[in-house]
Amino acid sequence: MRKEITVNYDGKKCYDITLNRSFDHLVNDIKSAIGDDKTKKICIVSDSQVAEIYLNKVQNLLENDYSKVISFVFDAGERSKNIDTIQKLYEQLIIHRFDRHDLLIALGGGVVGDLTGFSAATYLRGIDFIQIPTSLLAQVDSSIGGKTGVDFQQYKNMVGAFYQPKLVYMSMEVFQSLPDKQFANGMAEEIKHGLIKDADYYEWMKENRELICQKAPETMIGMLTVGCNIKRVVVENDPKEKGERALLNFGHTIGHAIEKLSDFKLYHGECVSLGMVAAAYLSVKKGNLTREELADIEQVLVAYDLPIRISGYDPKEILATTKSDKKMVGGKVKFTLLKKIGEAYSDLSLTDEDLLEAIDYVLEK
Ligand SMILES: NC(=O)c1ccc[n+]([C@@H]2O[C@H](COP(=O)([O-])OP(=O)(O)OC[C@H]3O[C@@H](n4cnc5c(N)ncnc54)[C@H](O)[C@@H]3O)[C@@H](O)[C@H]2O)c1
Ligand SMILES: [Zn+2]
Repeated sequence: MRKEITVNYDGKKCYDITLNRSFDHLVNDIKSAIGDDKTKKICIVSDSQVAEIYLNKVQNLLENDYSKVISFVFDAGERSKNIDTIQKLYEQLIIHRFDRHDLLIALGGGVVGDLTGFSAATYLRGIDFIQIPTSLLAQVDSSIGGKTGVDFQQYKNMVGAFYQPKLVYMSMEVFQSLPDKQFANGMAEEIKHGLIKDADYYEWMKENRELICQKAPETMIGMLTVGCNIKRVVVENDPKEKGERALLNFGHTIGHAIEKLSDFKLYHGECVSLGMVAAAYLSVKKGNLTREELADIEQVLVAYDLPIRISGYDPKEILATTKSDKKMVGGKVKFTLLKKIGEAYSDLSLTDEDLLEAIDYVLEK
């Protein structure tokens, strides 16, 4: 069983996402995406943790079909997502005489994908790149939509570009090594996709927790096909984040503030989970959701090992950090709320008191 999703840009086909049991179709998919050209050089970019497990395998698969396959590996973790790492990558590309018809491959999680995409967007004013996302978060979120970039000093994703890959290749093999915490991290975004766009999908994740946590290839392909399609539709409608794409920020406004205040010690998915609880609470306050639906959302998050309450934070500080985020319109926080389960909208009417009440709700007394 193998699935393909085509992503359009400006109404035209832009690239395919292929969902596979293994890496076996990789070479064929690359040829379909960019043509069969043995003279191409390839640089596989990966992080230390992913490279140890998958780099040899991917490199061996490519070596027969391309003139030169090199790799560039950096230390795993967000702390490597910066201009210094990119500079070292540029140096390697120059030493190995990469030109505009060569190819970069991002083999890793969102850090590798964002950094490789931005390098591809800027090296020689743009060379082709392919995403092989290995974390659930990268598969369902960061590898789709063309947002690339790095952090600058303490500012997250401060420097970047919209730049589309030529192919997103997913192998379900990667779940054999993905740590449970990282799996939960990605599930937060999957649950978000269901809540903002697809009530049936949300129900399916609720009913099939055990099956999903077994991570069998067929189940993962099925889940990712729906999850990736939700993100695809949103980014196709709004490629440069002018409107609908803001709905993907559900749970992220307060979530980002907590993430920042935790000094990034809490995982992104954990913070999004807390942010989704706060946003669902506000959706109840607006009369859109029932208390029972809020309790249901909390139960689903807990079932996937995600937190719904947190302690040790000052609500006023969370509010101030939320408001210093970039999603402000005329002094008001642009907030994504649920109209119902499976449908979201942007709200500009929330007062500081509303937000404090929601923040208080997720703080453990
Ligand atoms: N571009 C976008 O639209 C977008 C969207 C969401 C997030 N992001 C970015 O994505 C990044 C987070 O992505 P992430 O959560 O994948 O982080 P990550 O890339 O740091 O990966 C998390 C950890 O899991 C390890 N890992 C990944 N796949 C593995 C596997 N199969 N087996 C074993 N270990 C594996 C990595 O080595 C790393 O240590 C952030 O920098 C965030 O800003 C970008
Ligand atoms: Zn997110």
